[in-house]
Amino acid sequence: MINFSQVSKFFAGKAVVRDLNLHIAKGEFTVLIGTSGSGKSTTLKMINRLVEHDRGQITFADEPIEKLRAQDLRRRMGYAIQSIGLFPHWTVEQNIATVPQLLKWPKTKIRDRVTELMELLSLNPEQFRHRYPHQLSGGQQQRVGVARALAADPEVLLMDEPFGALDPVTRATLQKEIARIHQLSGRTIVLVTHDIDEALGLADRIVLLSDGQIVQQGTPLELLTQPATPFVRDFFGRSELGIKLLSLASVGERTRRGETAEGEPVLASISLREALSIFVARHTERLPVIDDNQRLIGVLHFADLVAEREAL
Ligand SMILES: Nc1ncnc2c1ncn2[C@@H]1O[C@H](COP(=O)(O)OP(=O)(O)OP(=O)(O)O)[C@@H](O)[C@H]1O
Ligand SMILES: [Mg+2]
Repeated sequence: MINFSQVSKFFAGKAVVRDLNLHIAKGEFTVLIGTSGSGKSTTLKMINRLVEHDRGQITFADEPIEKLRAQDLRRRMGYAIQSIGLFPHWTVEQNIATVPQLLKWPKTKIRDRVTELMELLSLNPEQFRHRYPHQLSGGQQQRVGVARALAADPEVLLMDEPFGALDPVTRATLQKEIARIHQLSGRTIVLVTHDIDEALGLADRIVLLSDGQIVQQGTPLELLTQPATPFVRDFFGRSELGIKLLSLASVGERTRRGETAEGEPVLASISLREALSIFVARHTERLPVIDDNQRLIGVLHFADLVAEREAL
C-alpha cells in the first residue's frame, strides 16, 4: 500500500533519513520506533507530504505520491499527533467533522458519523459534542484528535505519538481502542512511538530506526528474540521489566476464550513467562490453551503477553 524505495531527506545539507526502503502492506499495523531524532516523524510526514522527500521514490497504492495532489492525499490519510492543534474555537463536533465537511457530506451523515466515533472512543456524545477543546482533559483532547483522523474513513491512519503525555491508565485504554479499531476495520496504520511496550503490544511489524536508517524490521517476536545487532538487543532489553512481570501471571488470564489455533496446546495454569519461552522455541505467535481436564479453552496470542503488562 505504501512503499519507500531508497528515500532520503536532507535538512540543511544533513541527511536525517537515508536510503530508506520500507514496505507497508494493506491492513498492516506498522510501528516506527527509535531514539529521539532518529527520523520517525520525518518518515511519517513524508507519507502524506507534510515533508517532501528529496531522493528516492514513495508510492501510495502504486502511484508516486508527487503525482497525487497533497490535498487529496491527506484526505485519504487520517493524521493524528500528540500536540494536535484541535481548532480552539471549534466544538468537539466541528473538530471531528473537519474532513467530512471538506468532502461536503450531508449534514445528517456528518452528525451520525460524529456520534458513532465519539461512542467508539468512549466520549459521551451528549456530554461532549458541544464542548470546546479547553473544556476537555488532555486525554479527551487526544481522543478527539484520533476521532478526527478517523472521521472520513481514511484508507490509512498515520499517528505520531498520539498517546504521549497521558497517564498509564488512559494510555492503556486508548491503546486498546486503537487495537480494536484496527481489528474491526482492517485499516492500514502507521504509528510512531518511543514506548517499547506500546510497540510490542500493537504492532504487526516494528521498524526500528536509528540515525535516519532502519536498523531492523520484523514482528515483535523477531525483534525480541532475534535482535540483529547489540543496539537492537539493548533497545528492546529495556522491556525486561515486562518479561519479569510475566512470571506473576498465568496463561489462563490472557487466553482469548473460544478461539482455536494449530499446534500442541499449553496448560492454562503455566506462567506467561513459561509461555514466552514456548513462543520463542516454536517461533509461533499463537498457542492453543487447555485446562487441567485437557479441554481446549482458547488461544494465547503473543501480542497479549506484552500488551497489558501494566495490568499485572
Ligand atoms: N524542519 C526541520 N528542519 C531542520 N531539521 C529538522 C526539521 N525537522 C526535523 N529535523 C531534524 O531531523 C532529525 C529527525 O527529526 P524527527 O522529528 O524525524 O525525529 P524523531 O525520530 O521523530 O524524534 P522524536 O522522538 O524526538 O520525536 C532531527 O535531528 C531533527 O532535528
Ligand atoms: Mg517525532
